[in-house]
Amino acid sequence: MSNNAEAFEHWIRTSFVQMNTELEELYFAQGDRSRVIGVGDRIKHALRDEGHTYVTALHAEGNTGEGFDSAFGVLGNVGMYLGALRRHELTNPAREERSPFPEASSLAVHCGASLGMAPRFATAHLTIYNRARAGLRKSFTSLTDEFLFIDENTRGILSLQRAADALTSIVHLGVSSPVADVMFEAAKQSLYEVIRVNRRLMEHLDVERFFHSVRPYYKPYRVGRQEYRGANAGDFSGINELDLLLGLCRASDPYYGQLLVDKMLFMLPADQARLKDCMARKSLLDELLELLDSHRDADWFQRNARAFLELCDLFGQTAAQHHDELVKRFIEQPAARLGEGQSQGLTASGPPLPVLLRSLEVLRDLRVAADRPDIATRHEDLARLRAAVAGRDRKLP
Ligand code: HEM
Repeated sequence: MSNNAEAFEHWIRTSFVQMNTELEELYFAQGDRSRVIGVGDRIKHALRDEGHTYVTALHAEGNTGEGFDSAFGVLGNVGMYLGALRRHELTNPAREERSPFPEASSLAVHCGASLGMAPRFATAHLTIYNRARAGLRKSFTSLTDEFLFIDENTRGILSLQRAADALTSIVHLGVSSPVADVMFEAAKQSLYEVIRVNRRLMEHLDVERFFHSVRPYYKPYRVGRQEYRGANAGDFSGINELDLLLGLCRASDPYYGQLLVDKMLFMLPADQARLKDCMARKSLLDELLELLDSHRDADWFQRNARAFLELCDLFGQTAAQHHDELVKRFIEQPAARLGEGQSQGLTASGPPLPVLLRSLEVLRDLRVAADRPDIATRHEDLARLRAAVAGRDRKLP
């Protein structure tokens, strides 16, 4: 890492966190916690100007050619800087045609283009590629609820990745393999862990703090002329690998295929490659359905089909938790309390909240294979498979 890059990194991990935290305390202490404009101007301007000196030095330095980690680190830092400026209303894509921060925009575009990623901070910067220094990971603030959110998101992502790794192994072994059992078990345990992560968030994350002091850093902002949507915990390939390998979602479905295209540049390049590879594979559900008529009585079919169905149920449970519990408690309900005027611009992806909620509902219903004739769920296919294993719960050797 160059000296300029290291100096910026140090600032992002220290003064930047302090200033954001002070500002959050000011906003939060008000009767109207959503009021940001005109509050804490001295701190906001210091944050803007200090950050600017690091950004201009890095911009002048150009591409340091120091490899992936360095460029990825700079992209995350300049992205967090721009995300904070957006949070504190020093920029707002709704009132501007281009970003008022041209140097930061150029630096972000340069890093993003050289990495093959969107020119903004991504989920990976704050989660699975958020390198701790002496026990401390990067964050916008030092608020307990932000650490809780980042840490549990990271655990959730890591667990879903582990489940996706296990399913990928089954694809290579073939769904009829007698040794698929260890990988079905590994995937199952990982999904149980996701369920526990979601429960902990439900129990311990403070709704008001999350809504007013954490979530606003994930709003869309402009880089140059272009507006980029915010990061969300779904910007990694593992979740989609699970969708596709289980067979609950299909890349050929226009809604789901478009979603994959849209999120591609928000993922690490290694994840982009994994996702592309996965799109060319046959799902485990399709494999099992092909084998059903001729092999339903085989022990291996009974055992593996049951393990597969159990995974689908657990995966559906995690999706239902996300939508019916987390999104409802931490986004939908506080937004409803705010009222229409103030709830604009609070989603990470940008569309109005009701539109976002409908699209998240479609995803949930694909993942739980709901009986919904208006969307292409696998409800009937799963029912066929369930019928083939029903009533055969004699102990398998
Ligand atoms: C307080 C906790 C959480 C809340 C309130 C929340 C809320 C949301 C919202 C609102 C979106 C839509 C993106 C947008 O705003 O435009 C989203 C996307 C997503 N989140 Fe979360 N989330 C939470 C935690 C998690 C966790 C722990 C995971 C698991 C790793 C996760 C996985 C996802 C995924 C995969 C997506 C992309 C859409 C999808 O494929 O389902 N979220 N989340």
